[in-house]
Amino acid sequence: DKAGHRHFMAKEIAEQPEVIGDTIRHYLPSGDDMVNLPGDGVDFTKVQRLTMVACGTAYYACLTAKYWFEQIARLPVEVDVASEFRYREPPITEGTLALFVSQSGETADTLAALRYCRDKADQIVSVINVPESSIARESDLALPILAGVEIGVASTKAFTCQLTVLLMLAIKAAADRGELDPETMADHVAALRGLPAILNVALDQNDTIKAAAQRLSEARDVLFLGRGQMYPLALEGALKLKEISYIHAEAYASGELKHGPIALIDKHMPVVVMAPRDTLFDKTVSNMQEVMARRGKVMLISDDRGISEASEGVWETIRMPHIHTTLAPILYAIPAQLLAYHTAVAKGTDVDQPRNLAKSVTVE
Ligand code: F6R
Repeated sequence: DKAGHRHFMAKEIAEQPEVIGDTIRHYLPSGDDMVNLPGDGVDFTKVQRLTMVACGTAYYACLTAKYWFEQIARLPVEVDVASEFRYREPPITEGTLALFVSQSGETADTLAALRYCRDKADQIVSVINVPESSIARESDLALPILAGVEIGVASTKAFTCQLTVLLMLAIKAAADRGELDPETMADHVAALRGLPAILNVALDQNDTIKAAAQRLSEARDVLFLGRGQMYPLALEGALKLKEISYIHAEAYASGELKHGPIALIDKHMPVVVMAPRDTLFDKTVSNMQEVMARRGKVMLISDDRGISEASEGVWETIRMPHIHTTLAPILYAIPAQLLAYHTAVAKGTDVDQPRNLAKSVTVE
C-alpha cells in the first residue's frame, strides 16, 4: 500500500518524521534524559575502540556516526565496508566493540564480517530493522531502528533511522565516558526531540526540489560535495542518484576537489553542495567558488544564513530549516533523497525496482 503516493520510495521518504519520532521515543522515553538500551545494553566505560562495519547506505550511516562517536564521545572509531573488512583480517584488540549496521539484517558480507568478529571482539552489537534477522540473532545486542518495513530498493527511512539510533548511541557513549556535561546532554536530547518537526519543514520543500531535479535530470554526471559530517551524506546523495536515476554521480570531501576532481568541472557539470551554515561553511564556500570560476553549476543546499551569505552566482538553491549542527546529516538526507527521487521520476526510470539491484544482498 503506497498510501496515496506514486512510489514506495516517496511514501517512505514522507514517513521519516513519524518513524524517526518513534525511534527517538523508544530510546529516549519522555521525561527521561538518558538513552535507554535494551537488555544489558553497552557499558562504554569498558570500550576502548569501536569497529563499525556495513555495506552501501548503511556504511554511509557508519561513516557519519564516526564523526559523532569521535567528537561527542571522544571514542576512537574505525569504519569499513564489510566486503573489505573480513578479507583484510584486521586484528581486533581488547576493548573493541564491533558494531554492524544493516537494514535487512541478512546482507551476506555484513553477516560474514560479524562472524569474523565473534570470539575476537568484547561485544557484538547490531543496528537492524528486522529483529528476527540473522545479524540480529547472532549479535550479543541488537538495536532496532523501528523504521517499519522498507519496500523501495533504495534505502531512505532506514538510513535516517540508523543515523538516529547511532547518534543516540554516541550520546550514551559520551555520557558513560564522562565526556558530556548535563547541560550539553540536555541540549542534544532536546534537539533530538525537536527533530521530527524540523524534518516536516524539509519535506515542505518538495516542490522546489522537484524543480531542481528537473534540471539535474539533464546532466550526464553530477558531483556531490560535503565537509565534515556532511561528507558521508554527499556520498549517500551520489549513491541514491546513481542507483535510481542511472546518472553517474560521485562525491568528494569538499577539500579534496582541488586534488584532482576539479579537472572534471565545466559548464555541463552540476555540483551539489550540502552545507549548513556551520563552522566549516567558509571553507566550503571557497570550494564552491572554485567550481563556479570554472563555470560549474552549483546547487547549494543550505539554511537561511548560508543561502543569504553565499548564493551569488549559484545555479540553484534548496533551503533547509536551521538545525542543531550535530543533527544536520539527518535533516539533509531528505533533500538528497528527494533530489534523487524526482530526478529518477523525470527520467522515467523504475524508482522502486531499479535495474540490477535487489533489496537484500545475500550473496558475497
Ligand atoms: C542503497 C541500498 C544498499 C544497502 C546495502 C546494505 O540504497 O539500499 O546500498 O544499504 O545493500 O543493505 P542492508 O542495510 O540491508 O545490510
